[in-house]
Amino acid sequence: MVSYKELGLVNTREMFAKAINGGYAIPAFNFNNMEQLQAIVQAAAETKSPVILQVSKGARNYANQTLLRYMAQGAVEYAKELGWENPQIVLHLDHGDSFETCKSCIEFGFSSVMIDGSHLPYDENVALTRKVVDYAHQYDVTVEGELGVLAGVEDEVSSDHHTYTRPEEVVDFVTKTGCDSLAISIGTSHGAYKFKPEQCHKDPVTGRLVPPPLAFDVLDGVMKELPGFPIVLHGSSSVPQEEVDVINAYGGQLEAAIGIPEDQLRKAAKSAVCKINIDSDSRLAMTAAVRKVLAEKKGEFDPRKYLGPARDNMKKLYIHKIINVLGSDGKA
Ligand code: G3H
Ligand code: 13P
Ligand code: ZN
Repeated sequence: MVSYKELGLVNTREMFAKAINGGYAIPAFNFNNMEQLQAIVQAAAETKSPVILQVSKGARNYANQTLLRYMAQGAVEYAKELGWENPQIVLHLDHGDSFETCKSCIEFGFSSVMIDGSHLPYDENVALTRKVVDYAHQYDVTVEGELGVLAGVEDEVSSDHHTYTRPEEVVDFVTKTGCDSLAISIGTSHGAYKFKPEQCHKDPVTGRLVPPPLAFDVLDGVMKELPGFPIVLHGSSSVPQEEVDVINAYGGQLEAAIGIPEDQLRKAAKSAVCKINIDSDSRLAMTAAVRKVLAEKKGEFDPRKYLGPARDNMKKLYIHKIINVLGSDGKA
């Protein structure tokens, strides 16, 4: 058993309380490799933003859970080296799918876990989340639960349509489970194809497709039932069209990739939404930079020459999110 405290990590409790009171949200960035982690830590250290490093099941399979944990430990030391005296870094399991997975991460030094029982019948979701909370709280590890279903893919679970969170269920869920934060469904979804073009209208000035707004009435309903309780938004990539354009200009084929407009996320960040999950945007920033270098320099075969620009492009994206969307700069 390794306590996250020994690794210099923190849980989400105080971070979320401050974010709600301060009207900003904490970035939760997924990482799978060294370049992503370097970019996240550099961006957080330079902006003095608290940050959540998220590890999905896919990341654990890809990079190995042991290696990822040591990388997160290294991230704390790296942040200090960059001049961030008291780094506020959470290591979080994204979309934990079983009690055993959550337990293994907690024993391994994670400071926060998500148990995603959103696809289960309500009572089973409650029971599973309660079991994880009882275990996690013994070690002061915080737990994110989920109510409502996001369209798209959540690891192996996929759904064609949203089931918005039902505000009338949230008090019962939070009371029975004791979870520390709640992920809700208000129209976001995972990946780079969040809306079909026919759901959107065309902006007369830019000619870009604008998706329908998020269900802020559902968020308001949840906040009314659970005043001051930390709310989480998954599937919050904006799918920057500049990155999509670069990818397509250099041989990619991302047709009609559409994300959540940043003004919607800015509005959410000012509310009780205190954790905003972003993964796809980082993938797009990385892919755009790699494609550009490889297309322009056909003789290049040193990975540092394309992964370096990819890292720089991701860092630029993370800093933009922190300062211009979440407002978490200067809060750590
Ligand atoms: O929840 C989805 C995240 O973007 C993680 O994706 O399971 O492909 O690593 P992944
Ligand atoms: P995006 O696919 O919108 O980046 O969402 C990531 C996420 O929710 C990770 O849990
Ligand atoms: Zn998610």
